[in-house]
Formats: sequence, structure tokens, C-alpha cells
Amino acid sequence: MARNKTIGMWLYTNGGGDKIAKKIIKKLKNRNIDVVNNINLRNATAKNGHILYEDIKLDKLDLFFSYNAGEQTQYQMYLYQALNRVIPMINTYDAFALTEDKFHTSFILRQHGIATADYKLCHRDDGHELKKIIKKWDKMVYKPTDGWGGVGLTKIENEANLDMLMPFLNQMDLRYFYVEKFITYDNTDFRIDIVDGQFVGCYGRKASGTDWRTNVTSGGSVFLRDAPPEAVEIAIKACKVCGVDIGGVDIIYDLDKEQYVVLEVNGIPAFATPDQEKQGLDFNSKKIDLIVDLIDKKVNKGK
Ligand SMILES: Nc1ncnc2c1ncn2[C@@H]1O[C@H](COP(=O)(O)OP(=O)(O)O)[C@@H](O)[C@H]1O
Ligand SMILES: [Mg+2]
Repeated sequence: MARNKTIGMWLYTNGGGDKIAKKIIKKLKNRNIDVVNNINLRNATAKNGHILYEDIKLDKLDLFFSYNAGEQTQYQMYLYQALNRVIPMINTYDAFALTEDKFHTSFILRQHGIATADYKLCHRDDGHELKKIIKKWDKMVYKPTDGWGGVGLTKIENEANLDMLMPFLNQMDLRYFYVEKFITYDNTDFRIDIVDGQFVGCYGRKASGTDWRTNVTSGGSVFLRDAPPEAVEIAIKACKVCGVDIGGVDIIYDLDKEQYVVLEVNGIPAFATPDQEKQGLDFNSKKIDLIVDLIDKKVNKGK
């Protein structure tokens, strides 16, 4: 009899993540796939062609499923990248690193004909480029390319705003500036979850009061919302273009251009929390099943 396959996993434990992990482990067990859970690369070392975690050689695993912190330390990313060279990973290092960067994501999406906010990237010494663009765009958003939760996003409404902001940006020792045209929308978004090219579920977020950001960390609230088929198609395509096996695509509807626009692709989209499940977000079991299928498919490839 063939030996069981063994995968490594690192899944977040807050917000019901621990229970999700248990369900995934159980379902994989039924398919003769063992799971070593809670492998945080922070605690791994590398030595002579092996990546070691306690007494396990991670490079001998059949797959590594990394589903924890979006923002990882350079050390974790460094080992993620190395491990990805020798065993299958979900998401792959390249896809994960791509989606962690908003400019790279928008760039590649636009290359493939997927609508994003218009953007401009320029060298930090070319601040005059921002002057030119605010004249053209009227309103824009300054964005850290590696941010999350709406943190650091700054709306620039006119030239005077920009003049005020520039000294602060210049002090920050940034390598470049990334700005997006401000999109007129109804202050709600769609989060569409995709696993292995298949639609998992959708919910909406609404910005609170006067804030224009829908992030829950910026005061936004989650609500039940069906996914428009057109937006689902865009989300599936966005995940394919970025190369993510699992992705949560944030989409808003541009009221001026009358089209759906992808804001970002999240490589570790959260499962519905127990509270959100009570609220009616019911996609967790479908998501678990699709992830189990995906892992099974990848570890048994070529068999
Ligand atoms: N170009 C834009 N025009 C209008 N609103 C935007 C734009 N970009 C982002 N937002 C708002 O800000 C929120 C956070 O932006 P996003 O790019 O998703 O960054 P984060 O990683 O911080 O979530 C979005 O959910 C949306 O509500
Ligand atoms: Mg976002």
C-alpha cells in the first residue's frame, strides 16, 4: 500500500481559524493525507539543502499550505520562497508575493484586460508627476503598495491637499509613489472568494458614515450580498492571472465608467467568523471542501 501523503499547514487560529483547521485535517485524513499543523516558518531553520522545523524536514513534505499572516516578516518570506522551489505550495510564493503588492497586482491585471483603478507609479524624486496627475484626475488615493486594512490610504482631493501631503511623503524615505484615481462608487464592495478557479462565496462591505474605505478595520461592516455573475467572472479571471489557487477578490462598481473594478486580490482571504456565520455567511463548508479537493489534487498529481 502506498504511504500516506503528508502536508504542512500554517493556518491562522483566531476568528474560528482553529476550528476550520480541524475540519480540514479531518477531511484530509479521510483521503489518507496527514497534516502537520502550525508550522510557522519563523521557527524554521535551513541547513545544507534542508529546511528544518523541529525534527521535520519541510522539503520532504508533499505540500505546504500557508494560510496565516498576510504580512509576513522578511525571514518568513525568505524561507517561503526557498521552500517553494522544492515542494508545491498553496499559494505559490510567486502568486502570494504578487498579491501582497498592489502595484504589481494592478499592473498584471491591466495587462490582461481586467479593469482596475487607473494608477500611476513614479520614482520618489519625480513628485512633479503627482502634480500632473491630480490636475487630470481631480481626486486620487495615495496607497502604500504593501498595506492592508485601509491603513495609510490617503485621499487627495485637490492640488492644495497634495502640496500639504508631499513634505510628509518626502520625509518617509519611500522608494516610489503609487497613486490611484479615486473611483466614484456607492461605498460598498464585493469580496468574492475563489478556490481553484471555482466560485466559493461572496459578501459585501459597507463603509461607515463618511469614510470612503470599506475595510472592517476602517469601521466598515459586512453584509450579505449576492455576487453579480459578471463580477464572479472577473474574480475568477483575476485569480487566474495572479496565479493564486485561493484568492479573495475585492471589487467595487465604478459609477462613472459603469463597470466593475478590481481593487485587490487577497492571497489569504478569511473564512467567515462564527459571528459572520450566524449573520448568514454560509460559504465555509464549500470553501473547506474545495481546498481539500485542491490539496488532494496537488499531492496526488501524476499518480
Ligand atoms: N481607487 C480607489 N477609489 C475609491 N476608493 C478606493 C480606491 N482604492 C481603495 N478604495 C477604498 O479603500 C479600501 C481599501 O483599499 P484597498 O486597495 O483594498 O487596500 P487595503 O489592502 O488596505 O484593503 C477599499 O476597500 C475601498 O473601499
Ligand atoms: Mg482591501
